[in-house]
Amino acid sequence: MPGQLPLYIQQKLAEQRKNHAFRRLHLPEAGSIDFTSNDYLGLSRVGWAEHSEAFSHGSGGSRLLSGNFMAAETLEETIAAFHQAPTALLFNSGYDANLGLLSSVAKEGDSIFYDILSHASLRDGIRLSKAEAFPFLHNDIEDLRRRLAQAKGSIFVVTESLFSMDGDLAPLAEMVRICEETGAYLIVDEAHATGVIGHRGHGLVQELHLEDRIFARVQTFGKAVGCHGAAVLGSQDLKDFLINFSRPLIYTTGYGCGTGTAYPFDSTHAVCRHTATQTDQPFPDPGRDCTGQ
Ligand SMILES: Cc1ncc(COP(=O)(O)O)c(C=O)c1O
Repeated sequence: MPGQLPLYIQQKLAEQRKNHAFRRLHLPEAGSIDFTSNDYLGLSRVGWAEHSEAFSHGSGGSRLLSGNFMAAETLEETIAAFHQAPTALLFNSGYDANLGLLSSVAKEGDSIFYDILSHASLRDGIRLSKAEAFPFLHNDIEDLRRRLAQAKGSIFVVTESLFSMDGDLAPLAEMVRICEETGAYLIVDEAHATGVIGHRGHGLVQELHLEDRIFARVQTFGKAVGCHGAAVLGSQDLKDFLINFSRPLIYTTGYGCGTGTAYPFDSTHAVCRHTATQTDQPFPDPGRDCTGQ
């Protein structure tokens, strides 16, 4: 499923190629003069002038124009490897990542089913998508199954893996099974699980070995990773699609090259802040205790 894209996405990518409009991220050529920069006064380099790009205060432009850097590409490779995903694409925040992902992958006529406790950023992305949206009861697989009977077009199922308000886990393994049965694309927001759940803090998806069966994951850096930004994990085609059509990525000054460098982290000390009783899904590593006792 993750390698397979909704037909709409395949068609849009093919159209872009046919129209010679396919957008790629380019690295600035050494020694070239940048006439597209947002960095009008050159202040991004103040204090760092003699150093490499890695030391500027900001990217100076959209990543599709002058705001792409080797440091950002290297960070994406590091994050993709850490999370065992084919690719990672940086966004300026988790909010932007969810908005950029959901608003672009689903179109009018599609159906999005989302856990009713999903974060505002997921809901706002869903609203912007023009697809029909159906909430399902929190972590309720039977309710999801019932509601999927209403699906039209491409089907997306959206959930967080660890919910912040109740501290409970989504029944991801069952959700993956239902999505595979119905041909739905599963999107998992790992904002609260990143750095907290699983060996080295990889998140719940990897802890359950589901990384190859999920359409897209969102890892955010504003919580356990301790900075800001986010990455969408998914196939190369999904990444290409977002670079071409995700407006919160295209029309914003790119991710600063000095941020997000906490990856790859090792948070084995923080792995078990969890209450297994709040979900019918057993915690993957219940023997560990993070309280130091
Ligand atoms: C589940 C979830 N997703 C996304 C976000 C947004 O992340 P960020 O703070 O990086 O914009 C939050 C923030 O609270 C969140 O709880």
